[in-house]
Amino acid sequence: MRPRRGRVSSLLPDFPWDTIAAVKARAAAHPDGLVDLSVGTPVDPVAPLIRVALNSVAELPGYPTTHGTLELRAAAVEAMKRRFGITGVDQSAVLPVIGTKELIAGLPRLLGLGAGDLVVIPEVAYPTYEVGALLAGAQVLRADGLTQSGPQTPALIYVNSPSNPTGRVLPVDHLRKVVAFARERGAIVASDECYLGLTWEGRAVSILDPEVCDGDHTNLLAIHSLSKTSNLASYRAGFVAGDPELVAELLEVRKHSGMMLPLPIQAAMTAALSDDAHEAQQRELYQSRREILRNALRDAGFRIDHSEAGLYLWSTRGENCRTTLAWLAERGILAAPGDFYGPNSHEHVRIALTATDERIATAARRLSAS
Ligand SMILES: Cc1ncc(COP(=O)(O)O)c(C=O)c1O
Repeated sequence: MRPRRGRVSSLLPDFPWDTIAAVKARAAAHPDGLVDLSVGTPVDPVAPLIRVALNSVAELPGYPTTHGTLELRAAAVEAMKRRFGITGVDQSAVLPVIGTKELIAGLPRLLGLGAGDLVVIPEVAYPTYEVGALLAGAQVLRADGLTQSGPQTPALIYVNSPSNPTGRVLPVDHLRKVVAFARERGAIVASDECYLGLTWEGRAVSILDPEVCDGDHTNLLAIHSLSKTSNLASYRAGFVAGDPELVAELLEVRKHSGMMLPLPIQAAMTAALSDDAHEAQQRELYQSRREILRNALRDAGFRIDHSEAGLYLWSTRGENCRTTLAWLAERGILAAPGDFYGPNSHEHVRIALTATDERIATAARRLSAS
């Protein structure tokens, strides 16, 4: 019999970040310091109005509710309407989560999926979709096309537009086809909309947009994070919204599991969702960093694919991504290799826009000197 310890982690892939430790050390040895563009972690301060809201309930000792305050859910409904044109969501069909990574890692299990169930994730994908499916003991299929699942009906289909890592935006038509396919087969669609508010070219739409779902949210879940758009990664703040029955089921299971968001974070989220100015300001910062980095990468001979939205430049020099990683490390720049995001993704590196203006300018200078 296998020892109990290690049974669950053995279901999971090796932690990929360990594989870039050596290249990180090389980049960090640059005399002018490391420019770390490998992770999408915010670096700009949390807006004052959010910090005030966090503090405003700091003296309250009681347990928060798993469903969150009515104010929070109403603010989420209004923000979705104002910012993205999402209509028809009732506040009861919104559920706050302790950061969306937590929800994604647990979603297949929360939905009761297990052995014999199929979870479809994008070909090149944020790694936690696969992790959540494996933790539930479900099968994983990487597919961007709908026909690839063959006769087997998927239980859960993930879409991620705008995508991490590629920055690709799926057009309305594509999303409509996903919804039609899922309806026909009774599958659930989980749409990870972490970067919806960070679109630079074209238009990204929610799965709950009436143009996509005709106002029918059955079997649809939209997952929204405040980590990137409101710099709240450290607070752990996100929510899921959509099909009222599915949200009620998630709420029921999460209530029993004690998966509630701390009240000060709920207050901070309510403030963040009620104010668009801090978001617009943050978007402008990223837009100018994107311009600087994109030009410098192109001048240095990189090709940038997709990247119409989101916080990454999906970049290639037409060689293996580990070779590009080493080339960047010589210049004191750390990126994430494409092979972190899928087995057929070895020719790109993911370069994040989440560094200070000073570090982005330094990266651009080093690239221009090459
Ligand atoms: C596509 C995608 N989904 C979800 C997350 C998780 O965000 P959080 O847990 O901070 O809400 C990330 C974070 O990088 C992401 O890139």
